[in-house]
Amino acid sequence: MFFTGKIRPASPGRHLSSLPPTASLTTDTRTSEHPGEGPEEHLAEALVSTGNLAHNYRRVRERTGETCRVMGIVKANAYGHGANHVSKTLESLGVRDFGVANIDEAIRLRTSQSISGGASVLAFCSPPPSHIPFYLRHDVQATICDFDTLRAAEAVAGSENRTLGIHVKIDTGMGRLGIAPAAAFSLLTAVEESPSLRLEGVYTHFAQSTSQDSFTRQQFETFRDLCTEFEHRARRRICKHVANSGAILCNPETVLDMVRPGIMLYGYRPDDGTPSGADLKPVMQLRAKVIFVKEVEAGATVSYNRTWTAPSKRRIATVAAGYADGYHRMLSNRSRVSIGGRFFRQAGTVTMDQIMVDLGDDDLVRPGDHAVLFGWDGPPVDELAKHAGTISYELLCAVSSRVTRTVV
Ligand SMILES: Cc1ncc(COP(=O)(O)O)c(C=O)c1O
Repeated sequence: MFFTGKIRPASPGRHLSSLPPTASLTTDTRTSEHPGEGPEEHLAEALVSTGNLAHNYRRVRERTGETCRVMGIVKANAYGHGANHVSKTLESLGVRDFGVANIDEAIRLRTSQSISGGASVLAFCSPPPSHIPFYLRHDVQATICDFDTLRAAEAVAGSENRTLGIHVKIDTGMGRLGIAPAAAFSLLTAVEESPSLRLEGVYTHFAQSTSQDSFTRQQFETFRDLCTEFEHRARRRICKHVANSGAILCNPETVLDMVRPGIMLYGYRPDDGTPSGADLKPVMQLRAKVIFVKEVEAGATVSYNRTWTAPSKRRIATVAAGYADGYHRMLSNRSRVSIGGRFFRQAGTVTMDQIMVDLGDDDLVRPGDHAVLFGWDGPPVDELAKHAGTISYELLCAVSSRVTRTVV
């Protein structure tokens, strides 16, 4: 599901320090299912900062130079941030290419009209034949990895007397999708020579993009050599693309005609191996309201299975977000949240709709306060990811459809 957050100009830095007053923020929110019908105040909310997105885009640009194309990776609802407003913002910054996972995401993006007709959309998954008419209808470029799909695409496009834009994907070592290097030349030639297909690009994907080891180098050299040979025979230049965020940050020599950054645009390094100092800012803040505060005696237990016991008399806040909102249950008793600029430990098992927070003897927190679960003014999502035994990507994508996205 894509979200409708009304976009309004972000005032620089506003979202980086303290939060704006609730009333002014929530005026511009829309619930996804019933726009305008629900209350304006949301219990769980993801603030999406277009200012920080622009900041991160500039960090990409600094590394690629001005001539390289930047494909904005907006699959999985722009890593949970909301593909429509993210794509619209990226296009306003100069992005002309967008990457999604499949035809459903591509159609949502096209029909939302958040990007202009001139922008290109590439779907990364290899399409089954039944999807090909939709690629033509919605002007979506297809990833081709084998001859069967090529023939199916050719037949459909030919029968409609149209041409379909194609990117050939080569598997140089990721082991997921792509034609084997030995057969890639013939597939590229077949696309190039087809009257109903248009070779728009050729790409590969790294297995360990932040590593500078021999495997990554070999992947790159295999791809580059194949492309050089093909361009020589075809007597034209093809758009070649390899680098995702990790490669942009750690293997700059792999920046070719286009790059495909995802996580970097959203404000995070792909992993701890990436040097810090990339100067990225989180684009999402997940926050939820404190809906109840109580005092418990020493020895009292909190939440399912009684995994947390009060070591002394404590104040406990109940916060209105849980694993159904995307706050992973693995975070139980491991994470921290920020309320009113102060950090507190999460206490007890994360439940479906609520978590509890150990306020200690703090008596300033009140129902109605916001708890920042991650993002600016709170813990970074990669800190939470470590506690949950996963990666920042998964926690961002996990922010569920019941959480209202508000563009700030
Ligand atoms: C083919 C492809 N390119 C680019 C990306 C973006 O990767 P990252 O978010 O690490 O920049 C992805 C993400 O999984 C991908 O599958």
